[in-house]
Amino acid sequence: MPDFKHILVTGGAGFIGSNFCRYMLKRYPSLELTVLDALTYAGNLENFRDLKDNNRFNFVHGDIRNKDKVEPLIQKADAVVNFAAETHVDRSLYFAGDFVETDVLGTFVLLESARKYGVKRFLHISTDEVYGSVDEGTFSESDLLNPSSPYSASKGGADLLVRSYYITYNLPILITRSSNNFGPFQFPEKLIPLFITNAIDDIPLPLYGDGLNVRDWLYVIDNCAAIDTVLRAGEPGEIYNVGGSNERTNIEITQIILKHLGKPESLIQPVKDRPGHDRRYSISSEKVKNLGWKVRESFGEALAQTVLWYVENEDWWRPLKDKEFQDFYKLHYEDRETKDE
Ligand code: NAD
Ligand code: TYD
Repeated sequence: MPDFKHILVTGGAGFIGSNFCRYMLKRYPSLELTVLDALTYAGNLENFRDLKDNNRFNFVHGDIRNKDKVEPLIQKADAVVNFAAETHVDRSLYFAGDFVETDVLGTFVLLESARKYGVKRFLHISTDEVYGSVDEGTFSESDLLNPSSPYSASKGGADLLVRSYYITYNLPILITRSSNNFGPFQFPEKLIPLFITNAIDDIPLPLYGDGLNVRDWLYVIDNCAAIDTVLRAGEPGEIYNVGGSNERTNIEITQIILKHLGKPESLIQPVKDRPGHDRRYSISSEKVKNLGWKVRESFGEALAQTVLWYVENEDWWRPLKDKEFQDFYKLHYEDRETKDE
């Protein structure tokens, strides 16, 4: 198993990346981390407000597409974990080019640099969305990719490119494809934090279509543990699905959130469906379980803790629902205004 002294965490100022930094610094007392992040609307230095004084943690502001920024950082690192991406499906409907630019081209720049300078491991964070929707059954790592949105198609492109660097150049890559994460520090555009923060303010919860789409929810700390497991014990060239084994409909998630907050179901506002909306994601995680990983947090407990975290951290999320956020939602919800017939 490789011994890492210094890991470059790209996109580490976002939701999963910042949780991963916290997890790793606590778990490995001599490990050093450098975060490279462009601080897009989704990146936020407040996500590591508790790590500011940690002398094993460094932050560099920069874009993964910028080779001159990337190369010196990769030279210093034993491993790269790439979280950097445009990540919101709804935004990908309007700004598909940004997704191709960062998720595909950005990953390419990182791969080229890793190939030039060598790293012990290059772990790329992908998603279960690359498999596309499945009404019945469950995807394993050898299934074909069949993405539906510009987001998942861009992630799929990057995922294939990463694997090609193993096959062609023997770069020691690894890929995780996780299901939908939830937990603290998730930008309040995604289902769970959007609905919690809207409900706190008695703003309607826009539920797409019939609300029966299914996602497999995974607590972010369990995902961080899986990423750590794959980084240390995974086989180079291999892909690992990471699922929560916890498939729920969106309406079920919405009702649980409202119940925790003591808010009425009349806040639920059925709206027009998202174009290309995948019905159900489902993955098998047997392969990563064989490396010794398992889900540790109970879903009910983790969701309750997450709701409480947003209640107690209004100072973190209120500034994020700013004018830029409102402008996007105005555009987006004008398109979602009426319920499908
Ligand atoms: P996020 O949107 O919260 O964070 C993304 C981060 O990437 C931000 O800090 C942003 O500033 C940074 N970034 C964007 N473009 C960049 C660029 N060009 N250069 C450098 N940094 C850039 O996303 P997240 O939810 O933390 O997701 C992290 C990764 O995990 C993504 O690759 C995503 O596809 C994948 N993933 C997420 C989920 C989920 O449920 N959130 C599930 C499966 C996979
Ligand atoms: P989201 O958090 O955007 O993740 P993804 O689309 O990447 O799975 O959405 C999760 C589910 O919630 C998805 O089926 C779409 C649905 N959804 C709504 O019904 N309303 C909303 O406002 C949002 C953001 C999502």
